[in-house]
Amino acid sequence: MSNKKFTVAIIGVGGRGGYAYGTLISQIPEKFKIVSLCDIRLDKLAFFAKKFAIEEENLFVNEQDFFAKKRADVLIIATQDKDHIRHATQAFKLGYNVLLEKPITDNEQEMKDLLSLQKQTGCKTLVCHVLRYAPAFVKVAEQLDQGTIGKLIAINAIEQVGYAHQAQAYVRGYWRKAENSSPMILAKCSHDLDLIQYYANSKCESVSSIGDLTHFKAENAPTDSAERCIDCKYANECPYSAKICYLDNWIKDGRPIDAYPYNVPCLAPITEEKIISALKNGLHGRCVYRCDNDVVDHQITQMYFKNGVKATLTMIAFTMRCGRRMEFFGTNGQIILDEVQDIIRIGVFGKDEITIKISDLAQTQQIHGGGDWGLINSLYDMLTGIAPEKTALVHSAESHFIGIAAEKSRLQKGKLIRVH
Ligand SMILES: NC(=O)c1ccc[n+]([C@@H]2O[C@H](COP(=O)([O-])OP(=O)(O)OC[C@H]3O[C@@H](n4cnc5c(N)ncnc54)[C@H](O)[C@@H]3O)[C@@H](O)[C@H]2O)c1
Repeated sequence: MSNKKFTVAIIGVGGRGGYAYGTLISQIPEKFKIVSLCDIRLDKLAFFAKKFAIEEENLFVNEQDFFAKKRADVLIIATQDKDHIRHATQAFKLGYNVLLEKPITDNEQEMKDLLSLQKQTGCKTLVCHVLRYAPAFVKVAEQLDQGTIGKLIAINAIEQVGYAHQAQAYVRGYWRKAENSSPMILAKCSHDLDLIQYYANSKCESVSSIGDLTHFKAENAPTDSAERCIDCKYANECPYSAKICYLDNWIKDGRPIDAYPYNVPCLAPITEEKIISALKNGLHGRCVYRCDNDVVDHQITQMYFKNGVKATLTMIAFTMRCGRRMEFFGTNGQIILDEVQDIIRIGVFGKDEITIKISDLAQTQQIHGGGDWGLINSLYDMLTGIAPEKTALVHSAESHFIGIAAEKSRLQKGKLIRVH
């Protein structure tokens, strides 16, 4: 047990950097002290400066000023997808150890360049694949390691995005255009790819992938529907209605459906007037059939690993609820992990199945099933050298190479692409 304490700077104090990691880190003052923040949004900067008690001279609204010198032992990079590679490159050049949000990049060469820069500089890096730390996914890893189901032959995974979450994030929201964020396979499925690669325990040889944006397009808009839900005659019946999603549900439950506090279309404190104004003017008031989105609403990817394991991943928007389902087929048995059903079933052929409730495994009610805490603890272990990184840059690079190849394949109608 180390008693060393590390100073932390955060770039991007939004949902992940501010509300998730910043908040957790501020709860363990014996290990970390947040000393500097950078965000282009003055309101967020002011909010978190107060929350974490940061001196004014250590607040930055401009990344050039922030990166003028090294400001802490560790940098948390939690800006948007397209910023990660630029910020990580600058961080390594300054000698920061880094907690880096995913996806890192959708460009293979950029990923390779970052890996070699890290090697040259020796900066320690943990990538935020939080699910590897969540007890349910750890349980599966232990069972596979112990050989409970024999030799692993295949993995079948489904990423159930959820109809409302798809509309919020990938039709109306930040991740709707691949050019400004990432292709869906990296934006939504980088944890799935990371887990699959980790469980397969081998490098990926080749990938093929098919998928399209089929539904959330102008040609599917109901006749006479309006540009904005608030003005639309279908506002009270369309399942994607922003009026139902943000206004009616807020009035009913006090919390918009499928919206974390930081994702609602207006800033706290939320009032009915602010929601109506956001529905009239903001991104999230738009009809889902009339947005500027281009990311897919379903995609099926096949992976072939060098050790013979095969895997499929289906990403699908059209599900009632959000959650992952992963099935593992071994020579002696089968494991099913289903977040929506809240179960892990472990079956050894010829014996009774064991059923575990996932919610009984998670120590906290945090999102990501307790994975965020596991990641922060692991960051400390990495910095003190107590334990090796579970989600080092070199590990995450493998799943990025798979995702980048999958998107290349999808754009060529499922052509087989070599990864290694
Ligand atoms: N690991 C996970 O499980 C997980 C979950 C959700 C999101 N993410 C990823 O985390 C990242 C952040 O997501 P989020 O939901 O927190 O988004 P967010 O928009 O809430 O936060 C991003 C913050 O970065 C700030 N920002 C943007 N450009 C900046 C710049 N140039 N310099 C400084 N600050 C800048 C924004 O103002 C915002 O406050 C995204 O890449 C997302 O894909 C990861």
